[in-house]
Amino acid sequence: MLIALGVTGGIGAYKAVEVARGLQKRGHEVVAVMTSSATRFVGAITFEAITQRRVITDQFEPGANADIEHIAIASTIDLLIIAPATANIIGKIANGISDDFLSTLYIATRAPVLVAPAMNTQMFAHEAVRRNLDTLAARGVRFVEPGEGYLACGWIGKGRLAEPDDIVAAAEAMLRPEGPLRGRRVLVTAGPTYEDLDPVRYLGNRSSGRMGFAIASEAARRGADVTLVAGPTTVDPPPVNQVVRVRGAEEMYRAVLSRAERMQVVIMAAAVADYAPAARAPQKVPKGGDTMTLVLKKTPDILAELGQRRVASGDGPLLVGFAAETEDVVARATAKREEKHADLIVANDVSRADAGCGVETNAVTIIGRNGVESLPVQSKTRIAAAILDRLEKLLSESPAKAGHYDRS
Ligand code: CTP
Repeated sequence: MLIALGVTGGIGAYKAVEVARGLQKRGHEVVAVMTSSATRFVGAITFEAITQRRVITDQFEPGANADIEHIAIASTIDLLIIAPATANIIGKIANGISDDFLSTLYIATRAPVLVAPAMNTQMFAHEAVRRNLDTLAARGVRFVEPGEGYLACGWIGKGRLAEPDDIVAAAEAMLRPEGPLRGRRVLVTAGPTYEDLDPVRYLGNRSSGRMGFAIASEAARRGADVTLVAGPTTVDPPPVNQVVRVRGAEEMYRAVLSRAERMQVVIMAAAVADYAPAARAPQKVPKGGDTMTLVLKKTPDILAELGQRRVASGDGPLLVGFAAETEDVVARATAKREEKHADLIVANDVSRADAGCGVETNAVTIIGRNGVESLPVQSKTRIAAAILDRLEKLLSESPAKAGHYDRS
């Protein structure tokens, strides 16, 4: 998600650098907006280097479409954070004064706002400041309480900027509202894999990634901490906690296996190649005779490996697989569920024009240990919601460690 990080002129301004980094680590894009006094504490260049974006420092900067930029950013950001927020900016935004970029952005945006006040204890306790804070709170602004400790002015008390980690956590909580999957770590794979033949050619498939993206997005909406492992897709991935881009099956295998242990749910929506060229030619292969033979070798089956590990240890994430079938859909998918020791298999009839690869809709059958549920053609978003409803039920039935596997 895109977050505007407003930095004002307080001694804690240097900590905002850590806030920017923390947000980026969580997969967010950050645009820093500095007041002119903030630039006296930290250089704009520091934020520019970290955020990899131009830092907005002045509303009337010539040549930068400055007069409309705050409106453009105002409508694209998902969250506005002000950290540190001085008594001055709190006073301005509480009272609708917009005399610089940051205070104007506050007025112009409809994104939620998070404020991390930082000031001297006496100032923080002053009635004028308290009133402004109350006004903002009544308007829905959220706060990260200042910490207690040594202040730069030598006093001990409330006023020091909250720790960057706490600000990042508060931002995350605002972006990912309370939901039934809150606190659950979910890994979703999506898209095709490309298996390289030589530096310019590959074997791929027509998966667009939309089904996996819809699941990842819905899981995030329900409050889950989502890691998306995506093959090469042309559709952009949704904003989730972490997006890991991979190319081939082998790389996807490593990306998933190295993270699976920390997950409560792994959903394999990717169309992983079953075979890859036995060897990748280091140079472009020149044209030869009329026919050409490719030698392929089996790729590691990620879902089957996760299933095996869970059977061996009796513990591990809940596993959801997909099965792309063209005939005997339910029977084949049921067999796949058992072979791969998955909790759910979502079977796709890819012979239909309105379901499966490359289209916005899908029709699936969800096959569990004790039941088969067929969903008619509908948007991939609604299919994602139905799959997650089933998963939520499974999670609520599982004992303490969500992924405990019933060997039966
Ligand atoms: N899968 C995987 N690793 C692979 C191949 C597939 O993790 N190397 C996963 C897919 O992401 C999907 C499920 O296994 O969730 C089923 O994949 P599919 O290709 O439909 O089935 P296969 O078991 O490969 O059988 P077949 O292609 O013969 O139908």
